Amino acid sequence: MLAEFGNFPMMFYAAVDFRNRLCTKLFPMKILMAVSELAPYVKTGGLADMVSALSRELCRGGDDVRVLLPFHGSIAERWRRDMRPLEGPLAVHMGEERWARIHELIEPGGLRVYFLEHHRLFERSGIYGDCYGAYCDNGERFAFLCRGAIDLTDFLHWIPDVFHCHDWMAALVPVYLEMVARHGPLSHSASVLTLHNMEHQGYGDRSILSTAGLPQWLFRSDALEACGGVNFLKGGIYFANKIAAVSPSYADEIRSAEGGFGLDHVLRFRGGDLVGILNGIDTELWNPATDPHIAAPYALGNLGGKKICKADLQKSCGLAQRPNVPLFGVIARLQWQKGLDVLCDAMPWILDSMDMQFVLLGTGQWNLEERFRAIARSNPGRVFVHIGYDEELAHRIEAGCDFFLMPSRFEPCGLNQLYSLRYGTLPIVRSTGGLRDTVKNYDNSADSGTGFLFNDLTASAIHGTVGWACHSYHNRPEHISAMISRAMAEDFSWKASAERYRHCYRWALEKKA
Ligand code: ADP
Ligand code: GLC
Repeated sequence: MLAEFGNFPMMFYAAVDFRNRLCTKLFPMKILMAVSELAPYVKTGGLADMVSALSRELCRGGDDVRVLLPFHGSIAERWRRDMRPLEGPLAVHMGEERWARIHELIEPGGLRVYFLEHHRLFERSGIYGDCYGAYCDNGERFAFLCRGAIDLTDFLHWIPDVFHCHDWMAALVPVYLEMVARHGPLSHSASVLTLHNMEHQGYGDRSILSTAGLPQWLFRSDALEACGGVNFLKGGIYFANKIAAVSPSYADEIRSAEGGFGLDHVLRFRGGDLVGILNGIDTELWNPATDPHIAAPYALGNLGGKKICKADLQKSCGLAQRPNVPLFGVIARLQWQKGLDVLCDAMPWILDSMDMQFVLLGTGQWNLEERFRAIARSNPGRVFVHIGYDEELAHRIEAGCDFFLMPSRFEPCGLNQLYSLRYGTLPIVRSTGGLRDTVKNYDNSADSGTGFLFNDLTASAIHGTVGWACHSYHNRPEHISAMISRAMAEDFSWKASAERYRHCYRWALEKKA
């Protein structure tokens, strides 16, 4: 009897999956994403990749997905050529009416992208700031984006079922939705807020409420007030119908004092509506078999091309052309979050005690840039550092390296380790957030794992783990090959996670009803 029910859980999940797919086919949803950056048009990090890949996957599944982002001055001419301005100005109701223009770009897969043009607010060289720091009117700039998302719907005569907003830059959308759209066509629309990074919350002084056209009563500790100022993210967390964090571990971590950056109590309060959904990756853009940026294509079971990619990377970076030396890579924003200051401390020690090569691509804090440049200067032929942003080099590093380092202090999800797994470049990561959820630690007795994990963010832990990787590379090449195969066989496509978001949207709509 029991045996007959042995397959029950699988049958149950298959039935749920079938019901969900049927639901999407029968009742496609209308979703408006509000975000500050979107790949490939304008990007500083994984947020842009995530929203682009999720939107495309939802579109493929039949949902009507549209994305609104600012028309940043840094968007390249080649994208501007594909846009068309929509007729008439858009009135954005921030207290008084402000005027904007909308440019539409329809991607080949059907995704509609709207660029919100406002010369004074967005026609700048940076997205969030410039060499002098963050723009001092960021509160006004992103309140405008949020209010623009609400007013866009009337302009388009298109009512989304769900507003899906990302991070503090779009966190006022749920607030506006509650304040101004309680009655009327948007009264049934729900909001979902995805938390990509709790470190940045969007602070302003109280006057931002009147600039944004929001009522003064929101200046309360159970709304937008925090530490005597206004906190956008806190408002979003209070007012969103559902909240998602970008990995299950991060959804737990942000409820603690260490991970919540001062908002852990609000997240515990909203805990019943908070879910962790692991990001996927765009498997077309990040595919070593078809990647146009790399020296030779390769795939699981045919890794010849990866050796060519390594030789090509060594050559173009001025490293010694040695196929058998382990090559380590880093691609990152050079910020406190990424733990690269501790890697800097460990580097001289690593270089003194191991035969290895190192490539870094990144930009950010000038002191870190300087430290890495200095390491490269004193280790010619072994270390290459490129300070800047370079999409093509990022692909070549993923393909050409043997190992990829991410010693993050915290990492909500992390996409680079997922790209690395797909490119057979074994990740060496600190066990935190999404890194813990996606990389399986190497166990030499069981010959298992897809990478290397360590717990403490110390130079000695990094040195020890890099040493463990080098030792395995030289002494257990068959284990390394098996790990590469396991890593490349992992499925981090958006299919499953997009389904979870669909579920989250339905859940938000039920809550709103
Ligand atoms: P985060 O969003 O915190 O920066 P992720 O790992 O989620 O971290 O995503 C980082 C994304 O940004 C990846 O696509 C990575 O390749 C890209 N990236 C970061 N820095 C650079 C750079 N200097 N040049 C090119 N791409 C970069
Ligand atoms: C943030 C996080 C990163 C995550 C990305 C996309 O920038 O720092 O861990 O992968 O958002 O969700």
